[in-house]
Amino acid sequence: MLKADCVDGARMTTPDLDGEERATVEEITAMLPHFEKSRGNLIPILQCIQESHSYLATVAIEMVAEHLCISPSEVYGVATFYNQFRLHPPGKHQFKVCLGTACHVAGGDIILENFERKLGIKDGETTPDREYSIERVACVGCCALAPVAVVDDTVEGHIQPSRVEGIFVQFQVEREREEREKTGRESGE
Ligand code: FES
Repeated sequence: MLKADCVDGARMTTPDLDGEERATVEEITAMLPHFEKSRGNLIPILQCIQESHSYLATVAIEMVAEHLCISPSEVYGVATFYNQFRLHPPGKHQFKVCLGTACHVAGGDIILENFERKLGIKDGETTPDREYSIERVACVGCCALAPVAVVDDTVEGHIQPSRVEGIFVQFQVEREREEREKTGRESGE
C-alpha cells in the first residue's frame, strides 16, 4: 500500500545539484512514471537507470525510493546485493580483476590488492578524478592464463604485481603525451 506522502518529481527544483546530477534527475523523473509503484519493479527500475547512466548515483537511489515509497536504505541494500549494479561511475580506465577459482588460487587477490593500493580505492570504487575504477569479476573464461586481469578491453594473463606497476607507468606516459598535445593545440603549435 502506498504512503500518503509519496511525491513524484519533487527533486526537479532542488537548487544545489551540479550539472550532471541535474541531468540525471531530469532523466529519471521522466522515466519513473513508466513504472508502476510496485516493490516488484525495484530491480527493473535500477537496471533501466544503470543502462542509461552506467551506475546508480545517490540521487537516483533516493528518487527510486521515493517513487516506490520505500526507504533509500532498502534500495541501497538491493543495489549492493546484486553484482550487476555499480554505485560509482566507471573510470576512464577500468581494471577488472578475476577472482574466479583458478585466478583466486593463483593469487588474484594479491593482484587486486596491488591495484587497490596503487589507486587508494577499493574494489567497486572509482578515483575522484574518474580516471580509474577497479572491480572484481568472476571467471572471464581464460583460466589457463590465471591470474587474469582485464585492463579496459585487454586481457592480461599471468599478471604479476610488477606488471600492475608497468600498466600505470604506461597510462602515465599516455596521459603526459595527451597533455602535451593538448597544450600544443591550444598554443597553436
Ligand atoms: S577463474 Fe579467472 S579466468 Fe577463469
